[in-house]
Amino acid sequence: MKFDVVGFGALNVDRLFRVNEIAVGDRESFVTCSKASCGGSAANTIIGLARLGMRTGYVGKVADDPEGRLLTGNLQRERVDTDGIIVEKNGRTGVTMGFVGEDGERALYVDTGVNDHISLDEIDVDYVSGASFLHLTSFVGEASLQSQIGLAEKLPEKVLISLDPGMFYAKRGLSSLIPIIRRAFAILPNETELELLTGEGYRDGAQKLIDEGVKIVGVKLGKRGCYVTDGCEDVEFGALRAQVVDTTGAGDAWNVGFLYGLAEGKNLADCARLGNWVASKCIAKLGATTGLPREVHLAEL
Ligand SMILES: Nc1ncnc2c1ncn2[C@@H]1O[C@H](COP(=O)(O)OP(=O)(O)OP(=O)(O)O)[C@@H](O)[C@H]1O
Ligand SMILES: [Mg+2]
Repeated sequence: MKFDVVGFGALNVDRLFRVNEIAVGDRESFVTCSKASCGGSAANTIIGLARLGMRTGYVGKVADDPEGRLLTGNLQRERVDTDGIIVEKNGRTGVTMGFVGEDGERALYVDTGVNDHISLDEIDVDYVSGASFLHLTSFVGEASLQSQIGLAEKLPEKVLISLDPGMFYAKRGLSSLIPIIRRAFAILPNETELELLTGEGYRDGAQKLIDEGVKIVGVKLGKRGCYVTDGCEDVEFGALRAQVVDTTGAGDAWNVGFLYGLAEGKNLADCARLGNWVASKCIAKLGATTGLPREVHLAEL
């Protein structure tokens, strides 16, 4: 199978519990309702690309448990190939537990589980080496980052690498990511992440990455839209007007539009417009993937 885009990032189940109040000390609280949804930044983006008809695959790790089956089943339903996902016999699939009290107070518990234990020798390099793009997102632990770096170094040059660093990788700073950055075709951070990564504002920060050899930097600016540059040309577009219901996954959705544009050979401006357009669809619905479109309406861009 030749993939258009393969994703490689953490996979986790997001469990949201509504409780009467957040329990602290020896107090006892009660769950009034709970909801599970499938998460993981790269997975959200890959699902969006699959919905737009791209041939997609995934590299990641789950455990042999109900949460792992929920995640792989969800990807398969979205027509994402899951043969690149490693199933660990021991351990737990990544789970994020969010608790929300009646007063709106929140508590978050993250169990990264087997996500942080991906070694390079477990990854099937051939699975990725025929792909047009490899889209990377962050892991919390060091081992899986090192495997991403190792995979990037093993892949033929023709596999174009995109990276959305998220806060976890941005906090590590430029030096720990430099092997991926030098090999990357596109870096897709938000404004805060780019500032953390480079110590510069978004325009100078983007240029700094270009100077390291990155071909394209796409910066997400929240409701201000986005800024995209390849070092020669740059574009900045305000966000599309959208009814904001839930901004969860807006950045992942922006990556869908942008990568779809790149894969279709569109110019920088059109890729940026596609990013803003898919993001506007995402935030109009509750959840990270609910609003992701199944076809592109060019007239709306
Ligand atoms: N209030 C808004 N109105 C319209 N569009 C928005 C709004 N907020 C975000 N967007 C769109 O979503 C895109 C990505 O959002 P944002 O910059 O918040 O990314 P992010 O911080 O990476 O998000 P995430 O939390 O998913 O990682 C923006 O470039 C913009 O197109
Ligand atoms: Mg983001």
